[in-house]
Amino acid sequence: MKKIAIMTAGGDCAGLNSAIKAIVMTANTHGIETIGVTDGYIGFVEGNYIPLTVDTVRNIEIQGGTMLGSSNKECPFHYYNKKTGGFDDRTDEGIKKLRAQGVEGMVVVGGDGTLDSARVIFEHGMPTVGIPKTIDNDMSASEPTIGFQTAIEAAVEAIRRLITTAYSHRRVMVVELMGRTSGYLTLYAGFAAGADIILLPEHDYNLKAVCNRVDQIMKSGKRYVIIAISEAAKEEGGEETIAKLVKDSFEQKRYGGVSQKLAAQIEQLTGYETRATVLGHIQRGGEPTTQDIILGAQLGNAAAKLLIEGQPGYIVGMKGGKVEKVEFPKDRVPRLLDFEENDLCKTARDMGIFLGVEE
Ligand code: F6P
Repeated sequence: MKKIAIMTAGGDCAGLNSAIKAIVMTANTHGIETIGVTDGYIGFVEGNYIPLTVDTVRNIEIQGGTMLGSSNKECPFHYYNKKTGGFDDRTDEGIKKLRAQGVEGMVVVGGDGTLDSARVIFEHGMPTVGIPKTIDNDMSASEPTIGFQTAIEAAVEAIRRLITTAYSHRRVMVVELMGRTSGYLTLYAGFAAGADIILLPEHDYNLKAVCNRVDQIMKSGKRYVIIAISEAAKEEGGEETIAKLVKDSFEQKRYGGVSQKLAAQIEQLTGYETRATVLGHIQRGGEPTTQDIILGAQLGNAAAKLLIEGQPGYIVGMKGGKVEKVEFPKDRVPRLLDFEENDLCKTARDMGIFLGVEE
């Protein structure tokens, strides 16, 4: 093997550059050249690449995002065709363009959708290894995923800022976190920031019970209430709050707005002044924590080694503190938080933090 390609795709997060650097440096140790595919599957299909050397990746691990660029809409086997408005399979075309560059293997860093496409690329003949990343932490192949820990820190810092202003004004603050259908980020950040109420997509909340708890906390003399809510959380019998549908995206739903909805309901039903804050992409940006730098490097190194050793077809992830490989799964099912079994859910409940329904 003389040359490999690296691609990052899906929603960006902190720690991706560390993975890129580790792949380039590991390949270099073995005398293998690397190129980067730019902007995720757009670059794969269009054939857009940049050379990567030990010099170009120096110190990139301390920067957030991805130096290669990313896109979270494109899928190579269901690629939006602007002219027809339909979707085409452009997998073989992308592989052909890589082969024309002398590329003999590829490492793809991405979430469940991205790695599902990586599996298809592998099945179409390009030796490929995947690395899981997402602030949502919703992938079975790795616990945690690259980016999760940095996102927790960003969200915790933001929620702590809300606490001081909530205290001053005797307010209820509803803060909305990302994570799609998985509540890990909301649970871990909400818990660490001292939220009183945490509402997760895995367990529908009871609006009346939430309002009762707000009233109880305000009457206890605490002056303020912090509610951390996942973007895809919903009321019992209610619907998810969708901000928009992205037409040319493989996964079209974008969540957003549940915090405003809930804040208005709480204010109306309890009479307490309530404000909503959507943390949004603040959670994805910024420099990685040291944990994400190390995780990115370990998974980048392991992925490059698998390719070099002639063992493609796997995803490398962290399992119980050890780097392990699993075969590409055949589906793209997100890993959800087990509301009854998750240890932090249990701890939170035991400490009197309200998770949306009376036990
Ligand atoms: O999957 C990562 C993620 O940040 C989700 O938590 C969020 O719902 C989504 O991406 C946001 O997507 P976009 O960047 O397209 O708004």
